[in-house]
Amino acid sequence: MRERLLAAEKVRAIEWRDGALHLLDQRALPAEQKWLAYTDAHGVAEAIAAMVVRGAQAIGISAAYGLVLAARQRQAQGGDWVAALDADFDALAGARPTATNLSWALNRMRERLVRVRQQPDALALLEAEAVAIHESDREANLTMAQLGVDIIRRHQGNMQALLTHCNTGALATGGFGTALGVIRGAFSEGMVERVFVDETRPWLQGSRLTAWELANEQIPVTINADSAAAHLMKTKGITWVVVGADSIAANGDVVNKIGTYQLAVTAMHHGVRFMVVAASSTIDMGVASGDDVYLEERAASELLDVGGQRVGADVEVFNPVFDVTPADLIDVIVTEKGIVERPDTAKMAQLMCRKRLH
Ligand code: MRU
Repeated sequence: MRERLLAAEKVRAIEWRDGALHLLDQRALPAEQKWLAYTDAHGVAEAIAAMVVRGAQAIGISAAYGLVLAARQRQAQGGDWVAALDADFDALAGARPTATNLSWALNRMRERLVRVRQQPDALALLEAEAVAIHESDREANLTMAQLGVDIIRRHQGNMQALLTHCNTGALATGGFGTALGVIRGAFSEGMVERVFVDETRPWLQGSRLTAWELANEQIPVTINADSAAAHLMKTKGITWVVVGADSIAANGDVVNKIGTYQLAVTAMHHGVRFMVVAASSTIDMGVASGDDVYLEERAASELLDVGGQRVGADVEVFNPVFDVTPADLIDVIVTEKGIVERPDTAKMAQLMCRKRLH
């Protein structure tokens, strides 16, 4: 399975080469594959805010490289370059405030900076740290795929219909994906008949990105309107909902793309199992419950416009782009440290004490 999964890495969203960060512009997909190059942290922060790059892990990795670019620039300017970097940390952290992976990656870069700041090769050491963050995410994806596939196999065996939401694949991570990694793995083991993909209004991560990733690999995929999910569960034999996460609280509540919560409620009603797949870098044990996580709201135009044309009435808009799924609606959280069935505070604390499995 490992080899087949690594083949899915043909799609990459992030490349670090020639001293610059290269991002596949996800706003243009699937129509066009356009790469943009960034050489300063300000540009990277703007790219994250504008969703050139998106997905919790991909945002964290990009921010780590953005910090390397900032350090290079600040050091060249002379003076107290380490203190000057505070503004870059803030700009990158504020670009998409909900994803725990973003603050996790920046904290890791800050810890490294504190340790290496006096060394003549400080810049090279910071770059190595960003590369390590990127690489460890790839490895985490592999471990999670193996664990997630084992759970699906254990519960129902072959020929399953899975439902997913948003995009959690190669475009959203440093490897081939979290939830989509499990789905890829289950398909490669002959366990998946069809993957249903919520279109994921308003930004359409499902219909534009996830469907594109799956179709590229000839995995049978059907796009459905988000509002069709309950009907699908009732009529299409959905066995599992498999989603990612942007933040997981200490009690196991999961913050993910808007619409995830209603999927979990609906899944519970229909007896459909609900799996969350996320690296431990998504878990914030400093946050007691999902209700304490700041949920990003985005522009009204995301809801009012279609293809750049205004179609909605000129009224007030509420556009939160994440919601909170309570832990008691979740069957299992899969991480690279292991799995947590029926998550709660004690089980999450035990998980976080474990070492990575790879
Ligand atoms: O707004 P986005 O596209 O960045 O939201 C992404 C999601 O909600 C994903 O489900 C989540 O980040 C997991 S991706 C590994």
